[in-house]
Amino acid sequence: MPVHFPFDASIAGASTIPSRLYTDPVYLELEQERIFGRTWQLVGRADQVVETGQFFTADIAGEGIVVLRDGEVLRGFHNVCLHRAGMVAVGCGKRKTLQCHYHGWTYNLQGDLIRAPEMEGVDRFSLSDMHLKPIQVAQWGSLVFANLDLKAPPLREFLEDIPDRAQHFRIDEMRYVMRREYVLNCNWKVYIDNYLEGYHIPIVHPGLHKEIAYDEYRVEPHRYYSLQHAPLRPVSGNAAERNYLPPAQSGSADDQAQYYWLFPNIMLNVYLGQMQTNVILPLGVDRTLTVFEWYSADPPADVAADATWTKLLKFSDEIQIEDIEICEAVQKNLRSRVYDRGRYSVKRENGVHHFHSLLHEFLT
Ligand code: FES
Ligand SMILES: [Fe+2]
Repeated sequence: MPVHFPFDASIAGASTIPSRLYTDPVYLELEQERIFGRTWQLVGRADQVVETGQFFTADIAGEGIVVLRDGEVLRGFHNVCLHRAGMVAVGCGKRKTLQCHYHGWTYNLQGDLIRAPEMEGVDRFSLSDMHLKPIQVAQWGSLVFANLDLKAPPLREFLEDIPDRAQHFRIDEMRYVMRREYVLNCNWKVYIDNYLEGYHIPIVHPGLHKEIAYDEYRVEPHRYYSLQHAPLRPVSGNAAERNYLPPAQSGSADDQAQYYWLFPNIMLNVYLGQMQTNVILPLGVDRTLTVFEWYSADPPADVAADATWTKLLKFSDEIQIEDIEICEAVQKNLRSRVYDRGRYSVKRENGVHHFHSLLHEFLT
């Protein structure tokens, strides 16, 4: 189904995307196919697939996938048995082979069918012709990404210069700490739009506003990612009273914290010694799952008992709740009969305009 909407590549002349893209399920289907089915998705962690045979399952655009370790190689397949579409893996774990959970057809770690019981006498049936359908997988630091589209450019091209820019954070040395999920009653793009600008901070996040240098806040768009610069306000008095972030003493703001967004739905908030990933997944046209995961160079033995982490999580939760409230209110209003498209602040919403340009590029 073709979709057309006018979109101005210059932010000063542009109007925001039509509200039907946030409310009509037709567009979600199109996004699953053209965006989520063709871009790199953050699907798991490197520590889940360290030893040969270790695997985990995930979902991309409604497709089940399985990612596994086979010696030096990380492999990914559609989690769909060639017999009658059973699943060849469930959850996560470690196995020498993948055995379908329906009738037991068995595949090796390269995805070749090696055993199909009681199939004697079937015409034109040979095990050696049958292989699980592969997908692309790649690792960066502690993160594992997958792409359903075998023709999509490799992950390193998609990440562009991020691994260099973020090198001093040494994210490959960070270890998983914890996960938190929130379900929101809004379209996934409402949440992404909101993340991509600091324009709403003074009104929606008064607590955060006190701690960042709002005037210096800016967004730097690249091809498939953008980077937000949000320097902290210099503290007078006790730095320990800051709620926001591990206090770092020296270096430029960029050395201390970087906030990346990767098209279409991944955020990486990287700090010295700590990282948070957010993955934003559509559950329906007006329902969205946000998954937050924390990593640390020095994970606490017990998060709940650790004062620094407790404070950090409380502050993160407070900001998330403020964002949820505004996103849900906006979703309701996007259905209003009097609203269709708005305009962008050239100074403050270039990140949103960049996201919408990519949507326009992928959808039309
Ligand atoms: S569906 Fe997999 S063995 Fe039948
Ligand atoms: Fe926000």
